[in-house]
Amino acid sequence: MEYINLGKSGIKISRIGLGAWQFGGDAWGPYEYGIAKEVIAKAVELGINFIDTAAVYGRGRSEEFVGRAIRELGIRDHVVIATKIPGDWHRYDDVLKAARRSRERLSVNVIDLLQLHWPACWHNVPICETMKAMERLVEDGVIRYIGVSNYPLQLLEAARSCLKKNDIVSSQNRYNLIERDAEKELLPYLQREGITFIAWSPLAKGAVTGKYSPENRPRGDLRENEPVFYLDNLREISTKLIPVVRELSIKYGKTPAQIALNWLVMHGNVVPIPGAKNAAQVVENAGAVDWRLSEEDFRRLNEASSSLTITYVTW
Ligand SMILES: NC(=O)c1ccc[n+]([C@@H]2O[C@H](COP(=O)([O-])OP(=O)(O)OC[C@H]3O[C@@H](n4cnc5c(N)ncnc54)[C@H](OP(=O)(O)O)[C@@H]3O)[C@@H](O)[C@H]2O)c1
Repeated sequence: MEYINLGKSGIKISRIGLGAWQFGGDAWGPYEYGIAKEVIAKAVELGINFIDTAAVYGRGRSEEFVGRAIRELGIRDHVVIATKIPGDWHRYDDVLKAARRSRERLSVNVIDLLQLHWPACWHNVPICETMKAMERLVEDGVIRYIGVSNYPLQLLEAARSCLKKNDIVSSQNRYNLIERDAEKELLPYLQREGITFIAWSPLAKGAVTGKYSPENRPRGDLRENEPVFYLDNLREISTKLIPVVRELSIKYGKTPAQIALNWLVMHGNVVPIPGAKNAAQVVENAGAVDWRLSEEDFRRLNEASSSLTITYVTW
């Protein structure tokens, strides 16, 4: 496994992390604790040390599963735990309360990285009020580092300017071969500033692997209403992107998921956090690093991906 600094924190995290939204058992369908434990055990065995969860995943269930598995496996010293507070809880007192509750569910002394899951839309909480609470949590030893998620660049800059003794170490945003808007202004900024880009939905929820098509749409989970899986988008993906992913998959002897994740890590400070349904997927995703696509193949993939016309206007 390769490792990279988490922002300027000095902590090393694996080039591929593990997303734990799947453990929540709501959005992605039922998920048993035993499988979550197996997934975490396999991830850590393969050198993955960065686990991302959130208070909203299964209303705390994912955090509980992560905490319980880490405790039972005795691996607290081997993992960097990241969780998130939803944008609805960004008032000063709520941030403090939410962080302490997450810490309890995770059953750890300190949360390594606490991220603001999305901006305080609808709540009108001034950004400096939220950041003041985050600094208080660092001071009190409840969390070690501060991150944001789904913040536009301008709000991220404003958040940084509120901080007195700390800086933001990471920004978590959607980024994959199909959804590349983060490249427009966020990615260059994060690269310049030494802030880690944590890429969520790095497999576009499975769409970049080619296992879903207009004839075979995912059923029974949140993907039924996910724009990427709308027919027009799936047609674009199946005809313009998947053939190139498959061709490279054969050429490199790697799976489509590994090709798609490798393309992401080739962007420097980008750390994908694929979610996994089972241990076999973790093994596959961990195998996405320790090798690289050639510059030429990277460009080909870029071109195929740039030729996609994706829309979020689905009705
Ligand atoms: N900050 C945010 O707002 C935000 C938003 C979304 C997600 N996240 C985080 O990012 C993580 C990952 O994003 P995500 O779960 O949305 O999407 P993702 O990682 O792009 O896709 C995960 C899904 O892809 C399939 N999959 C996984 N590994 C595979 C492989 N090797 N080959 C083929 N299919 C594979 C699995 O579903 P099937 O097997 O059923 O196809 C899995 O549930 C989450 O767990 C969460 O921690 C954060």
